[in-house]
Amino acid sequence: MEVKKVGVVGCGFMGAGIVQVCAQSGYEVVVVEKTREALVNGLATVEHYLNRDVEKGRSSLADKDSVLARIVGSIDQGDLKDRDLVIEVVPEDMGLKKMIFTELDRLCPGHTILCSNTSCLSVTELAESTGRPGKIMGTHFLSPVPPSRLLEIVRADTTDDETLAIVKEFGRSLGKEILVARDTPGFVFNYLLIALIGAAVRLLENGVASVEDIDKSWTLGMGHSIGPLALADFNGLDVGYMVARAMSDRSGDPGLAPSALLKEMVESGRLGRKSGEGFYKYREAE
Ligand SMILES: NC(=O)c1ccc[n+]([C@@H]2O[C@H](COP(=O)([O-])OP(=O)(O)OC[C@H]3O[C@@H](n4cnc5c(N)ncnc54)[C@H](O)[C@@H]3O)[C@@H](O)[C@H]2O)c1
Repeated sequence: MEVKKVGVVGCGFMGAGIVQVCAQSGYEVVVVEKTREALVNGLATVEHYLNRDVEKGRSSLADKDSVLARIVGSIDQGDLKDRDLVIEVVPEDMGLKKMIFTELDRLCPGHTILCSNTSCLSVTELAESTGRPGKIMGTHFLSPVPPSRLLEIVRADTTDDETLAIVKEFGRSLGKEILVARDTPGFVFNYLLIALIGAAVRLLENGVASVEDIDKSWTLGMGHSIGPLALADFNGLDVGYMVARAMSDRSGDPGLAPSALLKEMVESGRLGRKSGEGFYKYREAE
């Protein structure tokens, strides 16, 4: 099966980026949001980034217009009924994702592949909520989606070989390098990231070094452009907390659980860059 028509459910932070790269790669995309307002905002985000590409000389006005012409927005999931591949990009809530998968399974023809952008939930559990467990995969895009070179694809215990091959090819057609992970807590990317950030927070909690010095060990010592605590601030401490909590609940490994310091920061509203304060202070919420 060749993927031609793509569907996306959810046009928030990640969904807008996924819609953009799919349309830029030549796919016809139908994107479905929950409300008209969320749809207008999501499509405006896509257009904003396309305009920026034009301003920076990375594409022409004609390119932008042809990309936008390939995107159709809707608030009716029924409009996904003729899609070859649908990517679910709604918030990280198993109940909500299962509801969407069950509905997509009912609406879409038998050949349609259903993917989830989940960061850490079980793709196998999602697959089992449908009548097509062989055609379900995780497509974990990283943020920001358009420039990110990597796409982590997650094979549920039930995913068949043909689906894996089609999704790999689809990811490559978006210009991404593919990483294939088994369906385990945090897959590869978040398992490594949460372990690194968790260790950095424990060093701080135990008074081993200052925020700046912990980050310096990674930037100067390893040559990375950002340290783990600055990265945690960038991603949002609430997001890191939620992913670590879900990974430890799912694996039963208390070593993955978020530390008391992270919990306290999230509960007091220090969420990183977006709230103006996390491990660092920011001039204004970004
Ligand atoms: N934010 C990140 O850095 C990041 C990175 C990788 C993966 N993810 C994963 O991507 C998914 C989405 O995250 P996000 O940051 O884009 O969230 P978000 O809150 O920015 O966007 C989610 C969107 O889904 C929409 N939505 C909710 N219910 C819906 C429904 N029933 N039908 C259609 N649309 C609906 C919301 O209106 C919202 O616009 C999550 O599973 C998250 O774990 C996020």
